[in-house]
Amino acid sequence: MFKKLAVVSSISLLLATGFALMPAQAELEFRGTISGDILDTSGEEDTPQVLEFRNTGQNPYNGDFEAMKKGYVIFSTACSGCHGHLAEGKLGPALNDDYWTYPTNLEDKGLFETIFGGAAGMMGPQQGLLTQDEILHVMAWIRALEKDPKKAQEAVDAFEKKNS
Ligand code: HEC
Repeated sequence: MFKKLAVVSSISLLLATGFALMPAQAELEFRGTISGDILDTSGEEDTPQVLEFRNTGQNPYNGDFEAMKKGYVIFSTACSGCHGHLAEGKLGPALNDDYWTYPTNLEDKGLFETIFGGAAGMMGPQQGLLTQDEILHVMAWIRALEKDPKKAQEAVDAFEKKNS
């Protein structure tokens, strides 16, 4: 009887210390879309949304209209010169359809890796130019272009109206 108890308690002690030693969450590894090199996502003051994204690979701003509006404003200054006013394509390819040069961009993790780490030629890394939180906002607007074009256009209109 006593022996059995001892075994049970040592197992629970083992479990308890095991859990205590486990890191709270393990972050995903982000790699350059072309280079495959590990991207350094450290060194910024992370928002809870950025932390969530780096753990799940899912953009928590997807579908969030406020985030899309902010995302479009960032896009219009940081990206539209090359990708076009509504991401219809210019020097850089269109980002408003389901065709991707790099199929990894179909997933949010891949899209982040392309924007944060850059791709070929003029598509330089946005690391250091935009915060990771800003990149997630831009991504929310880009995703809406294909998944919810009406909302994406409303985000554009909200900005244009304010500035006209
Ligand atoms: C100086 C011009 C320039 C700017 C600024 C720029 N891009 Fe690009 N972008 C390009 C070019 C050129 C390519 C094609 C590169 C390639 O195919 O590797 C590209 C490719 C991409 C791709 C991959 C598309 C695909 O079909 O797989 C994404 C996503 C992207 N850009 C997003 C952005 C976002 C978001 C911004 C703003 C934060 C931005 N770019 C800013 C020129 C630019």
